[in-house]
Amino acid sequence: MADEKQGYPQYPIEETLTVFWEDGKVAMIDQRILPETFQINYYETYEAVADAIKAMVVRGAPAIGASAGFGMAIAAQQSTATTVDDLRTDLKRAGDVLAKSRPTAVNLFWGIERMLKTADDPGLTTVEQAKARLLDEAQQIAEEDIATNQRMGAFGAELVPENATIIHHCNTGSLAAVAWGTALGVVRSAFFAGKNVRVLVDETRPRLQGARLTSWELKNLGIDHAIIVDGASGHYLRRGEADLCLVGADRIAANGDTANKIGTYNLAVVAHENNVPFYVVAPFSTIDFRTPTGDDIEIEERSQEEVTRVAGHQIAPEGVSAGNPAFDVTPHRYITAIVTERGVVRPPFDVNLRALAAAPVSEA
Ligand code: MRU
Repeated sequence: MADEKQGYPQYPIEETLTVFWEDGKVAMIDQRILPETFQINYYETYEAVADAIKAMVVRGAPAIGASAGFGMAIAAQQSTATTVDDLRTDLKRAGDVLAKSRPTAVNLFWGIERMLKTADDPGLTTVEQAKARLLDEAQQIAEEDIATNQRMGAFGAELVPENATIIHHCNTGSLAAVAWGTALGVVRSAFFAGKNVRVLVDETRPRLQGARLTSWELKNLGIDHAIIVDGASGHYLRRGEADLCLVGADRIAANGDTANKIGTYNLAVVAHENNVPFYVVAPFSTIDFRTPTGDDIEIEERSQEEVTRVAGHQIAPEGVSAGNPAFDVTPHRYITAIVTERGVVRPPFDVNLRALAAAPVSEA
């Protein structure tokens, strides 16, 4: 399976892509209703794409980045501008709307900015040419995401010992990206490389991305796993029954502090206490060098009903209030390494992340 030219294994993608372009529409797997129902939703306007991101039809930082790309592409198709400059104005407006959908995953802003930069190319002279170029760019973002994940998978798989039990938080699989996945992509790569792996899947309250989505993906792949409640990870770690933790990231600050799904910080601290390696797996686009530390990352606060209700059923006393930060920040001192498509970065992260950013990007 190894691709000699690229120097890392590439595998076919068997499943439907999480987000893709079809017949002039943005198509997304509706992640709110999995695993009971597999349904593709189609969106014809950037406003509808922004709403879908906000409602978490699509979620996971890389998938949100690709959705932003397609959202901008559909904004270009929607536009009635007759000059390229007017099209650029319409795109800026669309970018502002998309940017308001979710605040924490930096890939959203990265995707929008990349599309705006594409639109700014002075070589674009006609509206039709610009629209076609923007759609190409969105497609390229999506294709790059898959290649990026497979590269991270190959780097990360080397860190996974034979017969490893892995604790995983949230969903970082195919559904969190265009395909393959980040941290779960590492699990997938290790599995396809012939390693015997077992995953302890944090259920990931309150939206249960672990129990609903990660478990669904692992089951489809035939990878051994068990769902655990979020509070159980410490138990397994203290008893020496887990060999490593793998998580994704929604934003990595310049010093390595990492925002990820709520509960990640707790897991990292307990892993550290028990000398278990804690790896963050994320594409380079998740590293935000404009954000110096984790304290500078905006944390999304979601609705109280996500906590007081389970699957639509009220479980708390009526009228009680709930706190619902969707993410937390893990200080970099708890992170053993950050796996990117450019390689594995170890501390000191402030120095080594910048060094990797400055290094020529190797295809090998
Ligand atoms: O709120 P979500 O489901 O969009 O959050 C996604 C996560 O936090 C994931 O755990 C992931 O690590 C980031 S994307 C691979």
